[in-house]
Amino acid sequence: MKEQPVRSKDRFLVFGAPAIEEEDIQEVVDSLRSGWLGTGPKVARFEEDFRAYKSAAHAVAVSSCTAALHLSMLAAGLEPGDEVITTPLTFCATINAIVHAGARPVLADVDAETMNLDPAEVEKKITSKTRAILPVHFAGRPCDMDALGALAESHQLIVIEDCAHAIEAEYKGRKAGTLGDFGCFSFYVTKNVITGEGGMVLTRREEDAARIKILALHGMSKDAWKRFSDEGYKHYHVVECGFKYNMMDLQAALGIHQLRRVETNWRRRQQIWERYNSAFAALPLTLPVPAEAGTRHAHQLYTVLVEEQRAGLSRDAFLDAMTAHNIGVGVHYQSIPEHPYYRDRFGWKAEDCPNAMRIGRQTVSLPLSAKLTDEDVEDVIEAVRRVVG
Ligand SMILES: Cc1ncc(COP(=O)(O)O)c(C=O)c1O
Repeated sequence: MKEQPVRSKDRFLVFGAPAIEEEDIQEVVDSLRSGWLGTGPKVARFEEDFRAYKSAAHAVAVSSCTAALHLSMLAAGLEPGDEVITTPLTFCATINAIVHAGARPVLADVDAETMNLDPAEVEKKITSKTRAILPVHFAGRPCDMDALGALAESHQLIVIEDCAHAIEAEYKGRKAGTLGDFGCFSFYVTKNVITGEGGMVLTRREEDAARIKILALHGMSKDAWKRFSDEGYKHYHVVECGFKYNMMDLQAALGIHQLRRVETNWRRRQQIWERYNSAFAALPLTLPVPAEAGTRHAHQLYTVLVEEQRAGLSRDAFLDAMTAHNIGVGVHYQSIPEHPYYRDRFGWKAEDCPNAMRIGRQTVSLPLSAKLTDEDVEDVIEAVRRVVG
C-alpha cells in the first residue's frame, strides 16, 4: 500500500510564505482608500524607519534588490571593462546587475562550510581591472568582512553588500549593509521583511544616496519626487537617463508594519532553526555550521546538504520526496556556472568553483518562515525523517 503523505494535498506547506498580520492589511487598505498608491509619504516613512533600524547614514527605497544592486554600481561609477568579484553561490540577479551596470562579473569560490565568499579566493582574482567586491551574506550569515574590507582597502576597491538574506545580520556589532560602501536589501515575498516586490539601498555618502534617488526615477531632479504632493505642482528637470525603479506607497504600507515585527519574527525563526538542528542531528545530512563568534545570523534560509552516498538518495530525489509529502522546498542555489547563459558568455565551468558546485548540487532549503506553526515545523521534521531516516 502507498505510504500516506505527512500532509494532505490541500494543506500543502508553501515554501517561504510570509507572515502577514491584520495591521499590514489595514495599512494597504488605507493606501487604497487614500487614492495615493504611488511613491509618497509611506515610502519616506519606510525609508526612515529602515535607516534607523540599520543605524545607517542614508536609505533609498527602490523596486527590488536587483534595482538596488544595479543603481549602487552605477553610483559607484563602474565603467565598461571594470571587474566585480562576487560569489557563484547566489541568485542570478547578483550577476545580472553587474552585467547591466556594464561591468564584468568575476567569480571567486566560497568557503565549504560558511558557504560565503572565501577572502583567499577573492585575493587570487584581483587584477588591475578589479573595481569592486560584491559579497552576498548567504542565507543570512555575515561574510568575513574584516578580511574582505582589508582587501578592498589595500586595492582601493568599492564594497557593495548583497544583503538580500541579511536584514537582521550583524558583524562584530555592526549591521550588515553598513559595512561596505553600499548595502542592498530585498523585500521580495520570501524574505524576512516583505513588501511584495521591493528593495532598499543603504549608503555611507549623501551624494551616493542623492544620485541613486535620481537614477531610480527616470533621472529626474530630486524635486520630481514631490510633484504629486499636496504642496502643489512642481516642475522637474531630467538630469540624466535613469530607470523606473521607485517603490510605491502600496508596497511601503506593508513594509512599515513588517519592519516593526522584524525582531519578533527573527526570534521565531531562531526557535525553528534550533528545533531543526536538534531534530536532524542524528540524520545523514549536513546541517548549517553555527554562526561565527561576534556575528548575528539573520536566519533567512535553513539549508541542508544531501550527499547521495551518505543519505541514500540524491538531492533531486529528496526534493521530490518532500514535495510528495506536500512540504514545499527550495534550492539556493545551483552555482552560477551551471546556467548556460553564463557558461556561454563568460566561458565559466562549474568545476572552476568546486565548493559552490558541490553545495549547489547537494543543497535543499527547508521552510523557515515566521508564519510556520509548531505543527507545521513538526510536519517538516517528520517528512525529513521519513525521507532519509
Ligand atoms: C542573494 C540575492 N540577491 C539578489 C536578489 C534579488 O532580489 P529582488 O528579487 O528583490 O530583486 C535575491 C532575491 O531572491 C537574492 O536572494
